[in-house]
Amino acid sequence: MKTRTPRAFPCSAVFAAAGLLLTGCGSSGGGGSAQAGATSFEGRGPLTYVAGKDTTGTVQPMLDRWNELHPKEKVTFIQLPTDADAQRQQMIQNAETKSDAYTVLSLDVVWTSEFAAHQWIDRLPEKQFPLQKMLKPVVETAKYRGGLYAAPASSDGGMLYYRTDLLKKAGITEPPTTWAQMKSDCAKVEKLPEAKGMSCYAGQFQKYEGLTVNFSEAVNSAGGVVTDANGKPDVDTPEAKKSLDFLVGSVKDGTIPKEAITYQEEDGRQAFQSGKLIFLRNWPYVYSLAGKSEIAGKYAVAPLPGLSGPGSSSLGGHNLALSSFAKNKATALDFMKFFSNEENTATFLKDASLAPPYASLYDDKALIKQYPYLPVLKESILRAVPRPRVVQYGDVTSAIQQEAYAALTGSKSSAQALKDLQKDLQKPAAQ
Ligand code: GLC
Repeated sequence: MKTRTPRAFPCSAVFAAAGLLLTGCGSSGGGGSAQAGATSFEGRGPLTYVAGKDTTGTVQPMLDRWNELHPKEKVTFIQLPTDADAQRQQMIQNAETKSDAYTVLSLDVVWTSEFAAHQWIDRLPEKQFPLQKMLKPVVETAKYRGGLYAAPASSDGGMLYYRTDLLKKAGITEPPTTWAQMKSDCAKVEKLPEAKGMSCYAGQFQKYEGLTVNFSEAVNSAGGVVTDANGKPDVDTPEAKKSLDFLVGSVKDGTIPKEAITYQEEDGRQAFQSGKLIFLRNWPYVYSLAGKSEIAGKYAVAPLPGLSGPGSSSLGGHNLALSSFAKNKATALDFMKFFSNEENTATFLKDASLAPPYASLYDDKALIKQYPYLPVLKESILRAVPRPRVVQYGDVTSAIQQEAYAALTGSKSSAQALKDLQKDLQKPAAQ
């Protein structure tokens, strides 16, 4: 496996000895000398904000507001590809060349440990962010070894989007809570003339981070785990097999259409919006965009279904991190506070249905009126299962992607894929 060596951390030896997933240096461990207080936030002037392509159209308007208020410290938006793995790669390349081209990074919640351990991002002054007002699991995603390395900006929880009009027409009064119910609901809906040519279900099954999310969610939703409470891999189990069998079986019997094997988030959204899907697993951002599409008023969201009752989502989201190699860090810190404050994350919620880190926004009556899905989303985030919090995350996710994809495309049995994945995750991290 290709790995990179974190610098200057005594615990990196622990990773090598204990395998990819034994963290020993976990986010709540504390101790160590994780460059606490080492950063001085000096320098004022222009900066860049680096994030995946903005499919919501709300980021530039927010940057424009900042730029109006700070004409001498303007921020320029650098948009990376939509694919999470491609974003990670470009951010790592930038860090490895110690380039100052990127200032503030929109960091996927699963990369915090890797970026912090390599000292690609600076530790942040915790007291300057209102963390006590935020959902706890969201704050945890921004921490490494007890220190804050990113400002929680937007969370993400997977939800089941469904066509209310078609379910109703087929005599179904509640959205499904199990996979079996979802399939039988589809069988009923597909008999309707208006459902001609529609497929039952899609998620994100292309070989990239989205597949890691969808695979992990399926495993968790069948009562299994990818890693146990101590971070040890435990994926070669009957529960995990049932979940992978569900996905593989669904591709075989057409519940998941063949083309969904190539879907990322945006492909699934387009398919759902253009009336090709009855059910879709996706993130909250879809809620607002679908409201401007031809299925406006004809969909709602429910918790993800599972094997024998509601399932659980993977915890997603993006936090703001400060590149260690950037200039103008005093301005950058102010920008991070601005972009992630309660008012501005409420704007992202209102305009783009992005999940804010602040707890109170989920209970706001006016917001719930605009977005009835907010209570479902809050539950989804609070019950969400984090993906492994490890420095070698790139290796972990690529092992999961490889094996899940092999099973989905029929080149390996579910049993063999899980066996191989368990072995891969136990492999010592190369140094
Ligand atoms: C969303 C989530 C992120 C996840 C990605 C996978 O952007 O917020 O955490 O890794 O989807 O595609």
